Amino acid sequence: MASFVADVSERLKVRPLHPVLGAEVRGIDMRAPLDPATFQALQDVWMQHLVLVFPDQHISDAEHVAFTRGFGEPEVFHQNIIRSSRVKEIFRVANVDDDGNLMAPDHPTVKQVSLAQFWHTDSSYRAIPCTGALLHGVETSRTGGETQFTNMYTVYEALPDAVKRQVAGRKARHNFGHMHTLASLKPLTEEEKAAMPPVWQPMVRRHPVTGRNSLYISPIYNDEVEGMAAADAQRLIAELVEFAAQPRFVYRHRWEPDDVVMWDNRCTMHQVTPHDPRERRVMHRTTIVGTEPVLAA
Ligand SMILES: [Fe+2]
Repeated sequence: MASFVADVSERLKVRPLHPVLGAEVRGIDMRAPLDPATFQALQDVWMQHLVLVFPDQHISDAEHVAFTRGFGEPEVFHQNIIRSSRVKEIFRVANVDDDGNLMAPDHPTVKQVSLAQFWHTDSSYRAIPCTGALLHGVETSRTGGETQFTNMYTVYEALPDAVKRQVAGRKARHNFGHMHTLASLKPLTEEEKAAMPPVWQPMVRRHPVTGRNSLYISPIYNDEVEGMAAADAQRLIAELVEFAAQPRFVYRHRWEPDDVVMWDNRCTMHQVTPHDPRERRVMHRTTIVGTEPVLAA
């Protein structure tokens, strides 16, 4: 068994892409079943680099979902305007509809997808947020549409002591409906609100696998901070975002067709850069359901 594991490590070609996060991984074909040794090797590389880029993965949606299952149960998004009508586990980050038609920039789906230009971590508004996500570049942008990821372990470690004291032991509220106030989207219906009630999450969390502490905010959803007036809370979140977005913490991914990027939502945030709305951009995401509540550091 030991030699088999060594073979796997040799087959995986890992190239770091930034000093603090991101690595390119070659030697994996996502169409093939993931054996336990390869899974473990990948899991270790993922925990070390937080964001993995797998170039040249010519996968179907079904293969994308099957590969995701190696890491956990795929999430089914709760809104059908984003979910694929063909494969329910696929979350469509696209300005092109399911039938291939370009949608106008003011189409509600496009407006909601565009909100990914704000820093966030996926599904933090769930009582048990997701573990991570895998995004497949189906039609990639040439005019922008790059995805930036920030390492929230190193962000937390680098925070000034006074700010660390401010966030220690505090919770922030994560409210799915907050996003809808940021881009004049139709407010959520009472039914939609009831389906996704706001949750309070610790601002400093302990990673269940690595045991490391990280800052845990998701500005697109954060509408309140425990014990703070609304204006102070928004100011604190804005200051934390500005700090976290410094290039020393950020890997920026320029997409090529059939890249698959996999990230850990427990210790990173991400955002997408704007692109020309007349240019087609189709990205398919799977999301790995989390298994435990967020642990405070
Ligand atoms: Fe996202």
